[in-house]
Amino acid sequence: MKKVLVTGGLGFIGSHTVVELHNAGFEAIIIDNLSNSSINVLDGIERIIGYKPNFEELDLRDKASVKSFFGKHIDVAGVIHFAASKAVGESVENPLLYYENNINTLVYILQELQQKEEANFIFSSSCTVYGQAEKMPITENASVQPAMSPYGNTKQIGEEIITDVTKVTNINAILLRYFNPVGAHPSAEIGELPIGVPQNLIPYITQTGIGLRQELSVYGDDYPTPDGTAIRDYIHVVDLAKAHVVAMERLINKKNLSKVETFNLGTGTGSSVLEVITAFEKVSDKKLPYKIVGRREGDITSAYANTDKANEILGWKASLTLEESLASAWKWEQKIRS
Ligand code: WQD
Repeated sequence: MKKVLVTGGLGFIGSHTVVELHNAGFEAIIIDNLSNSSINVLDGIERIIGYKPNFEELDLRDKASVKSFFGKHIDVAGVIHFAASKAVGESVENPLLYYENNINTLVYILQELQQKEEANFIFSSSCTVYGQAEKMPITENASVQPAMSPYGNTKQIGEEIITDVTKVTNINAILLRYFNPVGAHPSAEIGELPIGVPQNLIPYITQTGIGLRQELSVYGDDYPTPDGTAIRDYIHVVDLAKAHVVAMERLINKKNLSKVETFNLGTGTGSSVLEVITAFEKVSDKKLPYKIVGRREGDITSAYANTDKANEILGWKASLTLEESLASAWKWEQKIRS
């Protein structure tokens, strides 16, 4: 079985990708420093795939341990790199934590990967690089705007580092720009585990639905959108995970058309906050208490993906709907609070 290294493999998207790698016949090797995940996620993965994947607790900020890890795992066919800090607000408060954790670690991994025969690299990027794009839906050649946060900047810098490195090494890379990852594995054995008060909409909604939070604050209903609330492209995490497997297979089978390729990963459909609330009430059969408050600093009006390139070139298409995403997120919330 071909081995694929999954950094941050106990995280939200990483854990779901480990499951889909198994389903596609790969052996995932997980490294994670458990700073934003729990070792229990490994048990959840085991309950889904029937065995515990190879896991090593490792902090990628420690260059020597990255070096020794790659020295031990000679035959890795590729790396899917999720490990990074990703809270926009925290990145504003503590930029150096983000530049160290998201940039240094990327450099250390690429320094080791470039020495491998097979140097296939999948990078977890974000639609945040587009800022507020002029045109909807957003295509991959939409201009990259000045980052609105150090977090967003680390994604832009990461893409630039990878692009420069592929030009002069044997590394081939695919940059995956996620829209809004939501939902949970249908088994409810793994899902999103926000620490503290959720920043993101869906976990806040499910925690409100279960009674952990009193009411949802809707950040602004004065946007230039049909119902005044902001629009996003909510993509089921299982669809997103499958895209990573397709991308890794593309590089392993040398189907890539250039040394670095970029793909938007979304559903292609935009949903407003109020539409998400309505959909959640439908799938949960609960009335969701919410109030309209002021806009959140740094939020954009609208972002949803043009998925033509991912559909036609990468050969991947999201299949799960917003309601399926919300139903899986709700099932997960009920499971972890039971
Ligand atoms: C979605 C919408 C909020 C919470 C962020 C990162 C992005 C990516 C995904 C990492 C917005 C509104 C939210 C709440 C609300 N993360 N909202 N009340 O901001 O689109 O993207 O997460 O890669 O990089 O920027 O996601 O879920 O925080 O917000 O009204 O309590 O829900 O204003 O319109 P966002 P989000």
